Amino acid sequence: MDKIRIVGGQSLNGTIPISGAKNAALPLMIASLLTEEKLVLENVPRLADVALLQRILGNHGVDITVAGKRNGDDPHAGQTMEIDARVIVDTTAPYDLVSRMRASFWVVGPLLARMGEARVSLPGGCAIGTRPVDFHLDALRALGADIDIDAGYVVARAPNGLIGARIDFPKVSVGATHTALMAAALAKGESVIENAAREPEIVDLADCLIKMGARIEGAGTSTIRIEGVPRLRGARHSVLPDRIETGTYAMAVAMTGGDVTLAGARADLLESTIEVLRAAGAQIDVNNEGIRVRRNGAGLFPVDVSTAPHPGFPTDLQAQLMALMTRAQGRSRITETIFENRFMHVQELARLGAKIHLDGDTAIVEGSDRLKGAPVMATDLRASVSLVIAGLAAEGETMVQRVYHLDRGFERLEEKLSRCGAQIERISG
Ligand code: UD1
Repeated sequence: MDKIRIVGGQSLNGTIPISGAKNAALPLMIASLLTEEKLVLENVPRLADVALLQRILGNHGVDITVAGKRNGDDPHAGQTMEIDARVIVDTTAPYDLVSRMRASFWVVGPLLARMGEARVSLPGGCAIGTRPVDFHLDALRALGADIDIDAGYVVARAPNGLIGARIDFPKVSVGATHTALMAAALAKGESVIENAAREPEIVDLADCLIKMGARIEGAGTSTIRIEGVPRLRGARHSVLPDRIETGTYAMAVAMTGGDVTLAGARADLLESTIEVLRAAGAQIDVNNEGIRVRRNGAGLFPVDVSTAPHPGFPTDLQAQLMALMTRAQGRSRITETIFENRFMHVQELARLGAKIHLDGDTAIVEGSDRLKGAPVMATDLRASVSLVIAGLAAEGETMVQRVYHLDRGFERLEEKLSRCGAQIERISG
């Protein structure tokens, strides 16, 4: 298993190109199941989760080709993927694939809407909480599907097609909003999704579906209206930049000090994060290239932050913010409201000398000047990158084990950081 070795203490200076968003690329790839025509996606990040979804879609009979590079192409540009779901050979998504990536469960909506049936394994456990799929199933039932659970599989049927309906989610769910949006796009008549997730990745999916011929209004607000159409066509769409990757590197720079431009980043996708970083003492400017983050000499201030659905502070940046706050001058409080078990990084950060005390869903972080490198273990995607950030600022060597978590969601992490002066390398084995 690969490890990442970091020798901390260097400031970061230079440019980091921001990749396409994983959390947009995955539902966009899944949306290809809604049409017999070709969907071309640009700026798709090279990540383990994307490769796994290629396999899952391949299992349904979807043909995916990744365009080759031409002379003069930017070697770091995202991939262009041509996805052809003309023939669906199998409407089953098996346990061994779905259990490896929860988002693959989302194939249930488009398979059901287009094929009238889907048999998709329940995703199973997850390191950060129970993460059920009841909202997805309730939405599909509201649209007229028959749903049974059989031997660990969701068996969904709508032989005569789905019918538009009102779907009112009891709690904001990104995944269930994706499911409802994709299923309603091909349902007969009008659907209204209330308490819809407002994440930029929902807007990106809706924009792509609209290019495919879907009739959708209100994506990005809590109420989305969809007028179903009988079929969707092919389209070309570019994946939006990754706001979580952007926020992660911004926190790394705030942590180590330095001056880095996050090229291609969009500030409008992470306003609450920028506000928190400014309150913590980072200087953030938006320019034509992207977002410039600086911290020179000045200390870090503690902040009190609660995670919340967009436009609130994202749960996917909570671990990284906690790493940053271990260096603040004073006590900060970080409350996690989305997932009940998303504090696995606390014990690992403690190994680097962080002083963090948990009180229910709140972490109280006593900032201090010094962290000291140590071997640590990555537990999930965002937690593992928080250990990298902490390692960049810690004295001496930090060895992060189980980095396959990082490869799921961060493209060329060690290369992007080392080009800005970090001492970081991957040790294969
Ligand atoms: C997506 C993101 C993930 C992010 C999360 C919250 C992707 C691929 N993943 O995950 O990175 O951390 O949004 O921003 O985009 N819930 C239920 N029943 C359901 C569905 C969800 O109770 O049927 C609960 C969850 O347990 C959680 C909350 O709703 O407490 C929000 O989860 P949700 O927004 O659905 O997360 P995902 O879409 O899985």
